[in-house]
Amino acid sequence: MSKRFFYATLAFLFLNIAVSGQNFGDITIKILPDQGNQVISKNIYGQFSEHLGSCIYGGIWVGENSPIPNTNGYRNDVLNALKNLKIPVLRWPGGCFADEYHWTDGIGPREKRPKMVNNNWGGVVEDNSFGTHEFLNLCEMIGCEPYISGNVGSGSVEEMAKWVEYMTSDGDSPMANLRRANGRNKPWNVKYLGVGNESWGCGGNMRPEYYADLYRRYSTYCRNFDGNNLYKIASGASDYDYNWTDVLMKQVGDRMNGLSLHYYTIRDWNDKGSATQFNGEDYYKTLVKCSEIEDVLIKHIGTMDKYDPKKKIGLLVDEWGTWFDVEPGTNPGFLFQQNTLRDAFVAAISLNIFNKYSDRVRMANIAQIVNVLQSMILTKDDKMVLTPTYYIFDMYKVHQDATYMPVKINSDTKTVNNKELKMVTASASQKDGLIHITLTNADLDNAKKVKIDLAGKKAVKVTGKILTSKNVQDHNTFENPDKVKPETFTKFKFTDGVLNVNLPEKSIVVLEIK
Ligand code: AHR
Repeated sequence: MSKRFFYATLAFLFLNIAVSGQNFGDITIKILPDQGNQVISKNIYGQFSEHLGSCIYGGIWVGENSPIPNTNGYRNDVLNALKNLKIPVLRWPGGCFADEYHWTDGIGPREKRPKMVNNNWGGVVEDNSFGTHEFLNLCEMIGCEPYISGNVGSGSVEEMAKWVEYMTSDGDSPMANLRRANGRNKPWNVKYLGVGNESWGCGGNMRPEYYADLYRRYSTYCRNFDGNNLYKIASGASDYDYNWTDVLMKQVGDRMNGLSLHYYTIRDWNDKGSATQFNGEDYYKTLVKCSEIEDVLIKHIGTMDKYDPKKKIGLLVDEWGTWFDVEPGTNPGFLFQQNTLRDAFVAAISLNIFNKYSDRVRMANIAQIVNVLQSMILTKDDKMVLTPTYYIFDMYKVHQDATYMPVKINSDTKTVNNKELKMVTASASQKDGLIHITLTNADLDNAKKVKIDLAGKKAVKVTGKILTSKNVQDHNTFENPDKVKPETFTKFKFTDGVLNVNLPEKSIVVLEIK
């Protein structure tokens, strides 16, 4: 070895250690079982569906006469995949679409329903064949709670009040009778009601003070019928708009049960970047942006705590996830993007963070369930693929309604854009005598030796699953649907109350400890 090469290698190694701030192999995680008493709401694992691109039409709904195998118009492959995820709650019909949606267009015989133009998303014709009955029946079929997003931007108080009556009244009331005439005798249970969406933007471009008054007015007439108790959600802030949260907390207070927040992992609205063609630097930058949500949550929660120290009002992150350029050749208004192992990291890291703040964060709805943005499922005609993000929701569903266990992590970091990105994140919970730990190792090049101190908990049996792939750009396609898929994970050993885990580079793991 030449002297020059030797010194260059030495300098490289030194630099790497300086960047990571720690030596490889000394990640420690301490589980603090006695300090956690909050329950991680299952609704953190919620989903969002909008009349956008092929989310509803083609992705979920194909109609009874479709050659694609279906049950009452819902495609069977997607139904089964969704049932397996144990989705707790599904938001609908938007998004921006919700503030132009008039629910009466979507009831009654389908052939008689009026058409409209979907001005928000691609200017396509919306035939309203998927409406209130189709949505609420879907929720019953997959066993989740509906979250209805009501129209404040271009609707009326009367329209919203009557929608609630139509869905939930069991009396001899005009709307309940209309619902019966349309084939549904019993009301549905509808708990979650959003009063507007992004009212600072596509939902009306309002100032928070004006929206706060509108919220008070609209929500007054959304009644609790026949034992149905609404959980009313005010349209909340975007990202770093802490003033919006402040005004809503001050002027609406506990007239709302929940306040929403939207946070997308996006590079730049004018230059979002490709979902599949990216390099290591792009990858780390995406994860920095995603991890920043922790800081954003802390600040919104701080503002909420000022007015509501007992944490009665929930913070609901009812839109989140990655937003990249659409797949080449697809309609730019349809927001159809591929989903790689990088997206899986965004999902896993975000969910670990939401669990941590679950004493205030009571719901989160990733955008969106099928064929739009960071989807669980992609479809093309009769074909379907499950994305890496789907598998994260599958692996993480063990946290739903489990008791949160705080974790203390000592992870190495990488400096990206002057920010420190933690290479390892974790979240732990217990339920029914089982402990579950979800771990992410974002490091593209280095495996981590992780020591997990279970604070005296005995482990009779440990099992694990891992999601990883050769390249972080890997994704599932209609031609190769199983490229990125979870596998059994066994690289751990339990000795003297410590679980030693060998966490491979760019991997996400869930461990179950009995
Ligand atoms: O999820 C796509 C869009 O993003 C939603 O319609 C809107 O609420 C947000 O801006």
